[in-house]
Amino acid sequence: MAGQLSPIDKAKYAAARRAIDFVENGMRVGLGTGSTAAWMVRCLGTRVREGGLKITAVATSTRTAELARQVGIDVVELDEAGWLDLTIDGADEFDPELALIKGGGGALLQEKIVATASDRMIVITDIAKEVSVLGRFPLPVEVIPFGWKATRALIEETLAGLDVLGHEVTLRMDGDAPFRTDEGNLILDLALMRIGNPRQVSLVLNQIPGIVENGLFIDICDMVVIGNGDGRVELREAGTGKITHDQVDFAEADNLFRDLDA
Ligand code: 5RP
Repeated sequence: MAGQLSPIDKAKYAAARRAIDFVENGMRVGLGTGSTAAWMVRCLGTRVREGGLKITAVATSTRTAELARQVGIDVVELDEAGWLDLTIDGADEFDPELALIKGGGGALLQEKIVATASDRMIVITDIAKEVSVLGRFPLPVEVIPFGWKATRALIEETLAGLDVLGHEVTLRMDGDAPFRTDEGNLILDLALMRIGNPRQVSLVLNQIPGIVENGLFIDICDMVVIGNGDGRVELREAGTGKITHDQVDFAEADNLFRDLDA
C-alpha cells in the first residue's frame, strides 16, 4: 500500500508517525497546518480511534480542524484548552539553529500563537527543507487589508536597510482574488533569498503598522523530526544539538493508506 505513495509523501508520513510518539494520554496538543501536518493528524486520529488515546486538541486553521474532526479528533479553541503541552507542525524551511520559515499554507498567525502557547514545539519535515541560511523560501507576512499597499511600500523601504539579498514583495493570490487567511487578512510573500539576521528581520517587520505577524519562528521549535522516503527518521534537538536516528515501519499504516485511496 505504501508503495503507491510518492517518496516525498512517505517522508512526510515517516516524520509525522515518529513525532506522534511524543503525544501522551491526557495531553493538550496543537495541530499544525499543511500536507505534513495532515499526515500527523491522520496518524493521531488512528491512535484516538483505535488506541483509545485521549487528548485535547487545538487546530491552527479551519482546514486542520475539519480534517481532525473527520478522523475522530475533537477540537477545542485555544482559550478553552489553555496552555498546551505540545504542538506538532510542519515548516517551509529550517536552519541549523532550528529557526523556521512558516506560512506557506497561509496559517502562520494561528500557528505562531499556538506554538508559543505550548511547552514544546516539534516540527515535522523532510530533508529538502533544510537550509544553511533562511530565505530561499519567500517569507510570508500577514497584513491587514486596510491600506495594504502602504504597508507593502513600508516593507520595501525597510528591507533596503536589512541584511537580506532580495527585496521583492508579492501579494499572494488565490486564483484571481487575493488569498485570505482564516482571519480575513492578506499575505505578502517576501523573496529575500538570504536572511542574514532572522531575529532582526522578524523584530523590524513586526514594528510596521499593518503587519500582523511574520513567518519567522525563532527560538520556538524544540525539535525537528526529518523523515525519509525509506522510513528512516532523524530527530534533532534544539539547544543540545543532540541527534538520534530511528526507523518507521510503513506496514502499520496500510489501513491509513487504504482509507486515503478509497
Ligand atoms: C502552513 C505552514 C506549513 O507548515 C508549511 O507551509 C509546510 O507545509 P507542507 O507540510 O505542506 O510542506 O507553515 O502555514
